[in-house]
Amino acid sequence: MDFDRAFEAHPDARGALVTSPTPYGAAAGLQAVAEVCHRRSLPLIVDEAWGAHLPFHPDLPSWAMDAGADICVTSIHKMGSGLEQGSVFHLRGDWCRPRCWVCGPICWGRPVRRC
Ligand SMILES: Cc1ncc(COP(=O)(O)O)c(C=O)c1O
Repeated sequence: MDFDRAFEAHPDARGALVTSPTPYGAAAGLQAVAEVCHRRSLPLIVDEAWGAHLPFHPDLPSWAMDAGADICVTSIHKMGSGLEQGSVFHLRGDWCRPRCWVCGPICWGRPVRRC
């Protein structure tokens, strides 16, 4: 997928959501996708449900946060040997507003751009 062309075709896009790796193990080139997103001041969100093992061996593809993602969700109960339903939500940087779905927006005193 050419993200630059996709953003050109959809100028109202608020960011990119990528599932990587897939349940079959195919991994996206997330660093390149993150660069395209950030050049456009847009966030990259990665569904890394099947990638809990990625940070633990240098021969595996980079995990989403090392690749520059702004948000990443990981199911540790899949490839991470976590307890059933165990998942982790990673957020960094200023591109996405932290939000609690129970209480509403959480103000951490950080600038909010898009997302
Ligand atoms: C690609 C993908 N994303 C998200 C999920 C949901 O993850 P969880 O079980 O941690 O809610 C799954 C579950 O199979 C999945 O395959």
